[in-house]
Amino acid sequence: MCGIVGYTGPRPVLPLLIGGLRKLEYRGYDSAGVALQTGVELVVAKAVGRLSCLEERVAGIPGDGFLAGMGHTRWATHGRPSDINAHPHGDCRGRFAVAHNGIIENYRSLRERLRGSGHHFSSETDTEVIPHLIEEAYRGDLASAVRSVAGLLRGSFALVAMAASEPGLLVAVRKDSPLIVGLGDGENFLASDIPAILEYTKSCYILDDGELVVADQRCVEVQDLTGRVRHKPVFQVPWDVAVAERGGYPHFMLKEIHEQPQAVRETLRDRIKEGELALDEFGLDGDAARALRRLHLVGCGTAYHACLVGKYLIEKLARLAVEVDLASEFRYRDPMVETGSLLVAVSQSGETADTLAALREGKRQGARTVAISNVMGSSITREAGSVFYTRAGLEQAVASTKAYVTQLVALMLLAVDLGAKRGTVPEAERAELIEAIQKLPELAEEVLKLAPAIDNLARQVAQWEDAFFIGRGLDYAVALEGQLKLKEISYIHAEAYAAGELKHGTLALIVERIPVIALATQPPVLDKMISNITEVRARGGRIIAVCSNEEELAPYADDLILLPACHPLLMPVLAVMPLQLLAYYAAVHLGCDVDKPRNLAKSVTVE
Ligand code: M6R
Repeated sequence: MCGIVGYTGPRPVLPLLIGGLRKLEYRGYDSAGVALQTGVELVVAKAVGRLSCLEERVAGIPGDGFLAGMGHTRWATHGRPSDINAHPHGDCRGRFAVAHNGIIENYRSLRERLRGSGHHFSSETDTEVIPHLIEEAYRGDLASAVRSVAGLLRGSFALVAMAASEPGLLVAVRKDSPLIVGLGDGENFLASDIPAILEYTKSCYILDDGELVVADQRCVEVQDLTGRVRHKPVFQVPWDVAVAERGGYPHFMLKEIHEQPQAVRETLRDRIKEGELALDEFGLDGDAARALRRLHLVGCGTAYHACLVGKYLIEKLARLAVEVDLASEFRYRDPMVETGSLLVAVSQSGETADTLAALREGKRQGARTVAISNVMGSSITREAGSVFYTRAGLEQAVASTKAYVTQLVALMLLAVDLGAKRGTVPEAERAELIEAIQKLPELAEEVLKLAPAIDNLARQVAQWEDAFFIGRGLDYAVALEGQLKLKEISYIHAEAYAAGELKHGTLALIVERIPVIALATQPPVLDKMISNITEVRARGGRIIAVCSNEEELAPYADDLILLPACHPLLMPVLAVMPLQLLAYYAAVHLGCDVDKPRNLAKSVTVE
C-alpha cells in the first residue's frame, strides 16, 4: 500500500526512481510521482494511473543531472486518485517536497491552523500538511524541521522530505509504516520495501518506529526523535534479484502458486527432525503448553482464513479453546484476553496495521504473543514475544497464495505440537500426522499438475456472474479462501457458506445453472456434504466438486476436481490450490490485471 523510493548519489536519478517504483507496484497504487533535486530547485512531476502515465509525463525531463530524488506510488485514502493528489507534495513556494505512506489522523486541525496563518493547499490529501509544517519549522536545517514536525503528527507515517536548499540530502522518519535504508558505496537509498533497492544493494537498515534518517550520498545517520544518534545493525537481505522477478511466468501469482511445494518444504525444514517436532520458535515448553487455557488467533483477509483452519486443528488436537478474530474487529469489541493466554498474530507482510494493533491489544491485556509471518524484521515480528517465520519467500502478487499455505503449515505444526505437549494427541496419531505433514510438498506437486484441466474449467467460470462455495468444517474455511481469491482478482461475485447453512436462507438464490463449488474432502461429514450437494442439484445448481473420493462424489458433480489422498486434517493445503488456479485462470480469461487487482494493496498499512 503506497510505495516510497528515495535516492541520493551519482546515478541518473529519474530512471532509478521509476525502476524502483516499478518494483513496488505489487503493493497497489492508483497514481505516482517523483521529485528531483537539481541543487537549486525541486522538479516535481505526478500522474494519475499506472507508472506508464508518469513515464509519459516525465518524458521531457533528462534522466540525469539531479543530485537526489524521491518517487512515490499512492493508494488513495484521503482524496480521490488524481494528478494533484498524487505525491510528492510541496509547500507554498516549492522549496520542500514530501512523499508519505500512512495516514495523518489530525490533518484537519493542522490544515485549518496552517490556512489561518496564510498557507495555500492544492490537494485534498492529509499528507500536504507535512510540507507546509516543514516550511513553518525550517531554519536552514531540514533534519531539525522534520524532527519537530514528526512531533506534531498523529497517525502512521513513513515519510521522506527534501529541501531545495540542501543539495543531495534526504530526511526520512517512520512511525507504524515500514521504511528501510539501502546502504551503498557513494550512494544511499530509501524505500518502503526491499525489492525497490535490491538491484543496487543487499545491505540495509530496517527502521524502527520513532527513528529519523539523515542521508546524503556519503553518509547515513539514524537518530531518535530527540536527535540522539542510534547505531543500528546492518541487515543483509538473504535473497537476490532473480527471486524478485517473475522467472518466466506471465504473472507473479502463477509463479507463486507453483512455488507452493517448495514454500511448504522450506517452512518444514529443520522443524521436523527424525520424526520429532522442533518448534522452539513458538516459545512454548511443555509446562507453558499445559498451562494454556485459551488461545486467540488474529489476522486479516487470507491470514484470517488461515486462522479459521488453525482454530479447527488446535481445538481438535490440543483440546484448547481457540477464539478467532478479524484483526480489524479485535480491539474494538473490548475483547477478553486472560493474562497468560496466548495470542497468535498471523500476517504475511508483518505490517498489516489492524493485525499489529490487535497484537498490541493482546500484549496490553497480558497475553503472551507469537507472530506467524513471512517477512523478517517486519513490525509485527519485532513486537511479538516470539516469531515463527513461514519461509514462503517473497510474495508479490496481491492475492496471497504461497504465504497462505505456509501459514496453514505453521498452524498445523503448532496444533500437533500443542496436542503432544498437552497429552491430547496419542503418540501413534502424532507420528502419523508428522509423517503426513512431511508428504505435503510432494502431494502439492501432484495437485498442481491439474493446472491445464483447471484452466479449461476456468473458461466457463469466466462467464459466471456469481459463484457460491460451500463446505463443512475445514472445507468451510477453505471455501472462504476460495471465494476471496475468485472475487479479488476476477471481480466475479462470490460467496462462501457452511454447507449446512444454505437451507437457512441462501438456498433461495440457487436456481437453474447457478455454479456451486462444493468442497468435500472431510470423511466425517461426507454424507452430510453429499446431502447439501443434492439440495443444490435439486434446484438446478451446477456442482464443481473438490474431493479425493471420486466414487462417492462423481454421481453428484457436473465437474470433479480430484485431489490425491491425504490426512483429512491436512487437506486444506491441497484443497485450496485448485481454487487458486481457478481464480487465476478465470481472471486471465477475463483480461484482469491479475497481480494488481483494482483497489487492493499488498500490504495494508493503514486501518
Ligand atoms: O500481510 P497480511 O497477511 O497481514 O495481509 C492480510 C490481508 O490483507 C491479505 O491476506 C489479503 O487478504 C490477501 N492479499 C488476499 O489475497
